Amino acid sequence: MGTGDSPGILAELTDTLARARRILVLTGAGISAESGIPTFREAGTGFWAQYNPLELATPEAFDRDPRLVWSWYQWRRGLIRAADPNPGHQALAAMQALGLPVTLVTQNVDGLHQRAGFEGVVEFHGNIFRNRCRTCGNVGRAGDPAAEMPPRCPACDSLMGPGVVWFGEAIPADALRAADAAADECDVFLSVGTSALVAPASSLADRARAGGAAIAEINPASTDLTDRADYALAGPAGTLLPALVSGLRSRDPGAG
Ligand code: APR
Repeated sequence: MGTGDSPGILAELTDTLARARRILVLTGAGISAESGIPTFREAGTGFWAQYNPLELATPEAFDRDPRLVWSWYQWRRGLIRAADPNPGHQALAAMQALGLPVTLVTQNVDGLHQRAGFEGVVEFHGNIFRNRCRTCGNVGRAGDPAAEMPPRCPACDSLMGPGVVWFGEAIPADALRAADAAADECDVFLSVGTSALVAPASSLADRARAGGAAIAEINPASTDLTDRADYALAGPAGTLLPALVSGLRSRDPGAG
C-alpha cells in the first residue's frame, strides 16, 4: 500500500483488484475531464469557478428563473453530445467485460459510462438527458435541444426540469440503496476523479472502510480522501485506469 504514482503502487492495486470479491468504483467529473467536459471545482476551469451553483443548480433557482436554468442545462447537453467517452470510461467498461465484480456508482450525469459500454451504471445524481417534474415526479426524455423554455409536464402541467439531482434534493432512493449496499459489501473501494466533498457520495468511502474495504484513489490532485487512501495514484484517469486494465489482463491472459 502506498501513495504517489509509482509503478509499484499500480502493481499492488492491480493485484488487490484481481483478488477482490466485490469492487465499488465511485466516479466524479474528473473522469469526464479528458472528454472535454468541465469539472465543477477546479480553479479557473470548473463550472463553479464561472457560475454560481445557487443560481443554476437548485430547485429555488429553477422556480426563480426557469429559462436561465434550462438554457444552462441545454448548453451542457450540447457539450456532452459533442463529447466522446475517453480511455478512462472505456477502461471501466473493460474491467466489467473482463468479469471483474465491479459496481459503478457515478456522480456524473453525462451518460458517458453507458456510452463506453458499462452496463448497470448507478446514477447517483441522475441523468442530464432526462427531464423530471418536481411536482409529480413524472420523468421524460430531454426533448428538443433548441427549446429555450422547459417543457410542461404531460401529467400535471408543471414546468419540467432536467433529470439531475440539485443541491438540496434527495438522491434517487434506488441509487442510494444500491450504492450503500455496494459500499457495505465491497473489499475494494476505488474513487476516480472526484473531489470527495459532496455528501452523501463523499461518505461512501468511509462506509466501505467500515466494512473492511481497501481504499484507492485516482486523481491528479490531492483530495479529502487522499490521506485516508491505502492506494493513492496521482494522475489522470485516462492513463491510470487503462494501465490497471492492462495489468489485470496480463494476470488473466485467458480473458478476452
Ligand atoms: N482524471 C482524474 N481526476 C481528474 C482529472 C482526470 N483527468 N481531471 C481532474 N480531476 C479531478 C480533480 O482534481 C477534482 O478532484 O476531478 C475532481 C473533480 O472534482 P469536482 O469538480 O468537485 O467534481 P465532483 O467531485 O464530481 O463533484 C461532485 O458536486 O457540483 C456537484 O453534482 C455535482 O456531481 C457533482 C458533485
